[in-house]
Amino acid sequence: MNIAILASGNGSNFEAIAKAVKCGYIKGCIKVLITDKSNAFVRQRAKRNKIKDIFIDAAEFKSRQAFDDEIVKVLKKERIDLVVLAGFMRILSVNFVKRFQNRILNIHPALLPAFRGENAIKRALKHGCKVTGVTVHLIDEKVDNGPIILQQAIKIEKGETLKNLEKKVHSLEHKLYPLAIKLFTERRVKIRNRNVKII
Ligand code: GRF
Repeated sequence: MNIAILASGNGSNFEAIAKAVKCGYIKGCIKVLITDKSNAFVRQRAKRNKIKDIFIDAAEFKSRQAFDDEIVKVLKKERIDLVVLAGFMRILSVNFVKRFQNRILNIHPALLPAFRGENAIKRALKHGCKVTGVTVHLIDEKVDNGPIILQQAIKIEKGETLKNLEKKVHSLEHKLYPLAIKLFTERRVKIRNRNVKII
């Protein structure tokens, strides 16, 4: 299966996925990294892993649709089967989502539908939650809303610092995302309406 990863920042999830592909845990090929930030650290990770990296500058496009169309052009050229969002800080247009329906994955650092949106780890801690976690889900037309593929909880200890909780969340992400992608590439994720069955 041909995979494209879309990311805007650090890229620790990109790295974990690249490692899982390299060692054969995920049976697929990362054809391209697409980023919207010229100075994103994830680009250095792509270079190190010898993965093609394409920067698309949103400022060069008149609308979100035009920007998304450019991404779709790359995805078509690379014959992409699965789009993996890994800290991609843009909302995809409805057309894009429809075009790759049930083939776009995202990871969110909380137990969706709780704490949708930004700063989810911090908000869960501030709220006084006793547990939080990580969710891998499919993208639909609403933000952080699509069908859930995998979800795992993390206990928040008494007096837990944000730094420590972030560390725990990220290290879980680096296990859960490769696992979800592995299941997807092995066609073990069955989706009917909003129901996800792992076989
Ligand atoms: C992760 O916490 C992910 O859950 C969220 O964005 C962050 C990306 O981190 N969607 P990284 O760039 O993969 O290190």
